[in-house]
Amino acid sequence: MVKEEMIATAIPGSLLQLENRMLKKILEISENERGPFYVYRQEDIREQCRKFLQIPYYPKSIHFATMANINPDFLRIIREEGMHVFVNSIPHLRAVQQAGFQGDEIVFTASAMDEDSMGIVHESGASLNLDSISQLRTWKRLFGDAPVGIRCNIGQLVDAQATHAGYFIGKESRLGFSGEEIRSLQGDRGINGLHIYVGTDIQNIDYFLTCYRALGTLLPYFPKLEYLNFGGGFGIDESGRDAFPMAAYSRRVSQLMKELSQKVGHPLRLVLEPGRIIGGKAGHFVSRVTDVKERPDRTFIGVNASSVQFPRPLFYPDIARHPVAIVRQGKQVRNISDISTSVYGCSTYSRDFLLRDARLPAAEIGDLLILGNAGSYCTSAFTDFLGFSKPKEYFL
Ligand SMILES: Cc1ncc(COP(=O)(O)O)c(C=O)c1O
Repeated sequence: MVKEEMIATAIPGSLLQLENRMLKKILEISENERGPFYVYRQEDIREQCRKFLQIPYYPKSIHFATMANINPDFLRIIREEGMHVFVNSIPHLRAVQQAGFQGDEIVFTASAMDEDSMGIVHESGASLNLDSISQLRTWKRLFGDAPVGIRCNIGQLVDAQATHAGYFIGKESRLGFSGEEIRSLQGDRGINGLHIYVGTDIQNIDYFLTCYRALGTLLPYFPKLEYLNFGGGFGIDESGRDAFPMAAYSRRVSQLMKELSQKVGHPLRLVLEPGRIIGGKAGHFVSRVTDVKERPDRTFIGVNASSVQFPRPLFYPDIARHPVAIVRQGKQVRNISDISTSVYGCSTYSRDFLLRDARLPAAEIGDLLILGNAGSYCTSAFTDFLGFSKPKEYFL
């Protein structure tokens, strides 16, 4: 056995520090709950919302990206905090309407929309960002001069970087209007906003600001601009050690918006679409150890859950690393084994892993195995491939 501090930074996956109240709640639920489940710490979600809502720039609107979590209780919590929502599909539009969000609180951005979808979004009163020239033509044919935003691929204006999950700008990206397409729209009075999405899980605020500035160079093309939508992408450090530098980000994005508003001669609305950062750390995925296989150079821990119920590692096998807590008889086990350990799901699917090649405490059958940073892109990415049921979700 080696000490946690010695290796936790050097290896993927680290110990999840379970707070007492959370541990108590998990133990309480697991007395009756046989299957795996999620628990969220509400206060974390609220705190993240407030950090964005306190950015000292007005006018602004902060839209939670519901692809990260569409649970109705989650939506209720962020709504109580004063957040708005960003959706990228009609079912999510319906879900947020059901949760009480009004048209002017909703941003819709998608790609390859059919006419029916455009009609539904138009009727909803949501603010829409279109993805291509032909989508814009369709919109104008259907709704004339109804204002609309465009998603801009500013890749030609910056040194585009691959972020987690690949390129979202630049020639590698399928999304948004290219530089030439944007220029061809010069003077269009129907375009009321510019949107970008730089990438996901970014900690480097210089990169954000460089991209935002690049978007700002397009302002002179469009006389009727009301907003700049800088998308999401705010990172969560997998180990939980380095928080996103929110204070510096708030200051710099506010300063930039003031400058750009001055340039155009009226206040531009700042729109942000944070997803992962809002509930990521609040969420815990709780499973139970059902098997342990010792091999000469590695250990496999089997649990009563499948990666289809905790799908981030399935969608992002190269990057998804979640901190782990192992709880035995009500107490967290903290001694980390020096053997490479993987956590696998209870199916025969060869890729059914919840975590690979981490250093974890040695587990025993019957222990609880809890994965942290599980509040975003986990339950919302549930798939019924393999037939496991969607885990229940609880809020502390
Ligand atoms: C357009 C857009 N905005 C916001 C988000 C949320 O991103 P994140 O969870 O990285 O903040 C996404 C996620 O893919 C997106 O596509």
